[in-house]
Amino acid sequence: MAIHVLDHPLIRHKITLLRDKNTGSKDFRELVEEIACLMAYEATRSLPMEYVDVETPIAQTKGLVIGGKKLALVPILRAGLGMVSGIERLVPAAKVGHIGLYRQENTLEPVEYFCKMPVDLEEREIMLLDPMLATGGSAIAAVECLRKRGVDPKNIKFMCLVCSLEGLKKLHDAEPEISIYVAAIDQGLNEHGYIVPGLGDAGDRIFGTL
Ligand code: PRP
Ligand code: URA
Repeated sequence: MAIHVLDHPLIRHKITLLRDKNTGSKDFRELVEEIACLMAYEATRSLPMEYVDVETPIAQTKGLVIGGKKLALVPILRAGLGMVSGIERLVPAAKVGHIGLYRQENTLEPVEYFCKMPVDLEEREIMLLDPMLATGGSAIAAVECLRKRGVDPKNIKFMCLVCSLEGLKKLHDAEPEISIYVAAIDQGLNEHGYIVPGLGDAGDRIFGTL
């Protein structure tokens, strides 16, 4: 499936503000929410629609509503949580599942510590949320976790704010059937596995745990 680079001027402007090391936690959190909302507006463009009958104050007519599969938002803890409220503004009826993953500091391998999903997960279209895609290990582990619970990878949209080119390639090679939505593709990773230039540790900046 496709890789979509969401380069709307509003998204690019807000990503630059996020990158700034002087942006404090309150503003950082608000920006993550706003960017996630703008990205979801683009990512929901392809949702199927169906006609329903509607009665206006003047006449009976037909109108379009969103049809097809229901949505589930699945943030990867912790940083993915910061994206949920922005997307819920557009799709308030979406259910929310959680996957807890952290990167081991020395190996950068993801470790799963939590997973709680809606019961009808496999019947839903999934938006998998994480602001950062660095080595790609966490995103690949999260997709695997969804696959084990019966989700067809074709129904997964992975949404991230900033990725490294190598992480993006790794995820696309490992999971060619998912769709990927990203706002910025950065040049690489430093020796600690941080995206360069990136924006630092997204989880720490969202929750003020720097
Ligand atoms: C960050 C980020 C991703 C992961 C990306 O989470 O939010 O989940 O790293 O790195 P990867 O592509 O190399 O796997 P982190 O493990 O720091 O946990 P946190 O969100 O709790 O801070
Ligand atoms: N996780 C982050 O939060 N930032 C990075 O640059 C890499 C992984």
